[in-house]
Amino acid sequence: MQKLVVKGKKKLSGVIKISGSKNATLPILAATILNKNKIEINGVPIVRDVITMVQLLKNIGSNIKFDLKKRKIFIHNKNRKLKTIAPYKLLKTMRAGVIVLGPLLSKFKKAKVSLPGGCAIGSRPVDIHLYVLKKLGAKIEIKNGYIHAQAKKGLVGKKIRLPSISVGATENAIIAASFAKGTTLLSNCASEPEVRDLTNFLKKMGIKIKWSTNRKIKILGNQNLKSTTHKVMFDRIEAGTFIIAGALIGKKLKISGIETQILKKEISVLKRMGVKFQISKNDITILGSKNIKPVSIKTEPYPGFPTDLQAQIMVLMTKANGISKIKENIFEKRFMHVPELNRMGAKIKILGDSSFVYGPKQLNGAEVMATDLRASVSLVLAGLSAEKTTIINRVYHLDRGYEKLENKLRKCNANIFRRN
Ligand code: EPZ
Repeated sequence: MQKLVVKGKKKLSGVIKISGSKNATLPILAATILNKNKIEINGVPIVRDVITMVQLLKNIGSNIKFDLKKRKIFIHNKNRKLKTIAPYKLLKTMRAGVIVLGPLLSKFKKAKVSLPGGCAIGSRPVDIHLYVLKKLGAKIEIKNGYIHAQAKKGLVGKKIRLPSISVGATENAIIAASFAKGTTLLSNCASEPEVRDLTNFLKKMGIKIKWSTNRKIKILGNQNLKSTTHKVMFDRIEAGTFIIAGALIGKKLKISGIETQILKKEISVLKRMGVKFQISKNDITILGSKNIKPVSIKTEPYPGFPTDLQAQIMVLMTKANGISKIKENIFEKRFMHVPELNRMGAKIKILGDSSFVYGPKQLNGAEVMATDLRASVSLVLAGLSAEKTTIINRVYHLDRGYEKLENKLRKCNANIFRRN
């Protein structure tokens, strides 16, 4: 099994170009199921989850090609008969696979999709996904680990309030409603930039979608879709991760290929911590920070602070002069990185859904174990700022969502390499 070896304390400088967003690419790929005309998707990140989604689409019979050199995906399903089954072998490694349920059901009036496998960060049920699809007219049964969904006469637009905010369920609902008969009015939706990127893509295919304030979306279903080209938005979590790396151990580290407007919350938290930046529309340079201040934050749906950057900012909090607090509101088990960070010399206490980080602490290299994608990268950040060598095991978690992480860091002076 591959490991990452990090020799810490090397100041990072130079430029890191951010890749396309994994969490925007996945629902966009699922939405291509609706359209039999030519589709070209650009700026696709080469990460494991995207490759799994491409495999899933291939598995159901989609004519999909991933040009890795150009980071482009081409899909053309004219005269193709797609299967309506998404098997466990593909869903067990990537929960986001459940997002094919809405498009398959909407387009083919039936679908059999495996319930996703277990997850390290929380129980992550799919009840809200099923709730919205039922409201659109689906009959759903769970049998032998599979979701069996049917809508003999096709899905029909409805007014639906999501019982709580969910990114995936919002995306499933939007895609399903896009091909349903009539108009759907969704409320209490997730408004993450990746959900907006999905709706931008669907609009280009000919679907009328209107966002209004207060998390409401109006969708006019359309079964006559056209060919389209789309460039995936930047990965705001990858960007946030490298910005935090810059705050931790940077000396003029520039993060490019982003929209700083989208990262407003993250930037404001880091500013409160005393991090100094030069900010322009499409890049940000982290000038470093001598005196990190403690802060108290909570993770929330967008535009709040993202749960996907919680583990990373916790590493920066170990440098703060005082006690910082993080309240994790999204996932119930997302503090799995804490014991590993403590093994590296941090002092972090967990109390229910909150973590208290006592700083400042100098971290020391250790052999550690990654448990999920963002926990893994937090250990890389810890290793970059630690004395001596850190070895991170189970880096396959990291490869699910970060493209060539160690290469990007090495180009900026980090001493990090992969070992078998
Ligand atoms: C998306 O997951 C992201 N994944 C996650 O990114 C991210 O952490 C999460 O949103 C929150 O921002 C993708 O976009 C592919 P949710 P998703 O449905 O859609 C509960 C990463 O590291 N819930 O918004 O699965 C759920 O358990 C990942 O890149 C239900 O109870 O997240 C959680 O507590 C990991 N029932 C909360 O809602 C449901 O049917 C929010 O989850 C659905 C969700």
